[in-house]
Amino acid sequence: MERKYVIRGKKPLKGEIEVSGAKNASLPAICATLLAPGVYKLKKVPKVRDVFCMLKIMKYLGAIYEFKKDYLKIDTTKVNKFSVPYELASQMRASILFLGALVGAFKKAEVPLPGGCAIGKRPVDFHIKGISQLGANINLERGNLIVKTKKLKGTEIILDFPSVTATENLMMAGCLTEGETVIKNAAKEPEVVFLGNMLKKMGAEIKGIGEDTIYIKGKKKLKPINIEIIPDRIEAGTYLVLGALLEENEVIVKNVNKIHLKTPILKLQEIGITLEEVDKNAFRVKRKKIINPIKIITAPYPGFPTDLQPFFAVLLTQAKGVSFITENLFENRFLYVFELNRMGAEIKVEDRTAIIKGPTLLMGSPVKATDLRAGAALVLAGLCAENTTTIYNVELIERGYENLIEKLSGVGADIKVIEDES
Ligand code: EPU
Repeated sequence: MERKYVIRGKKPLKGEIEVSGAKNASLPAICATLLAPGVYKLKKVPKVRDVFCMLKIMKYLGAIYEFKKDYLKIDTTKVNKFSVPYELASQMRASILFLGALVGAFKKAEVPLPGGCAIGKRPVDFHIKGISQLGANINLERGNLIVKTKKLKGTEIILDFPSVTATENLMMAGCLTEGETVIKNAAKEPEVVFLGNMLKKMGAEIKGIGEDTIYIKGKKKLKPINIEIIPDRIEAGTYLVLGALLEENEVIVKNVNKIHLKTPILKLQEIGITLEEVDKNAFRVKRKKIINPIKIITAPYPGFPTDLQPFFAVLLTQAKGVSFITENLFENRFLYVFELNRMGAEIKVEDRTAIIKGPTLLMGSPVKATDLRAGAALVLAGLCAENTTTIYNVELIERGYENLIEKLSGVGADIKVIEDES
């Protein structure tokens, strides 16, 4: 069965779109429930493929879960396995988060080494080095990272780069590690801050969350809690750009945390797009008729997020002049450019920079999603293109966007899912 999206573009969009809970906050939150056995209620976990994949792994480990009306209930009381099956882990790189959670909770783990990835090499050496520095013995056997240790001991770990999931893994392991774990050059993304706050609520002693250095004093035990997931800033950014794509659009995006989106919002302003606050955390997107070209350089938070650059590329095809996007995190994050060019965009990639000439008229064509964000960017391109765009490989998009079709149809987009027997 092949799923594809068929979009008829250039329809003015009008109405409200509500942002879901953040996928990248939910994934570590689900893993963190392993740190203290018991029942957790996580509000606003999005029902997306990556979350279901993570939950399948949790079930395999012995956890029980159920989606209730407005929360996800996870019971980790009976967790009795420590190895993550390859078939599930290979579907999702975030499965590496089980390393920190299992090592922290049980001092042992078997986690498949993540394989290749569409957006770049994405090694996990910082994760392995950091966990080893805490005193764990890590061996690679048949593609699995096998961790055995009697006791972990806190120490100072300096990350070569402020990696999001490496920081999260070390925070989870550090909370139940004797002594003080210090993480230097830590990631400061809102999802890392969210996990830090969740761990604190569970009883962990952590200082410096959201700063360069995180200090963790290990505890013997943590406790289960209830918590609400923060809004997805990347999904919010996606819909803010959507609102700006056509001059006639009148879109309000709800459940936006503006503080998490400071840099992208400043960039929108430079382009000629402003956000009018209509209610608490709800913004109407307003654009000038002619929009400006800009320069974007992706960087760790609070810099411009790599996950949002594909959407800005689509928007900048409509700006008058030449724009530049430099991608500093992942080496393969411009694959969507070739698909956009098939739709009539004029984008050249030189080394790490995409050079976008605008404005260009986008024309509907068959295109292929190459990763989650690239795929969602093609949906946006399809919505501002003439005629019909067909998007293939949409399972990748569904890894991270909850109710995408419903949300877009809700503001008047003409988008349909087609399932072909093949
Ligand atoms: N890196 C290493 N070694 C490591 C870890 C990272 O060299 O051991 C490098 C990476 O190759 C990359 C840079 O460090 O060049 C930063 O990567 P980071 O580790 O921060 O990325 P991540 O933790 O694997 C998370 C998000 C990504 C998001 C990036 C950057 C989750 C589950 N994933 O990945 O989200 O792009 O941070 O912000 O939180 C997405 O949602 O579509 C997505 C890809």
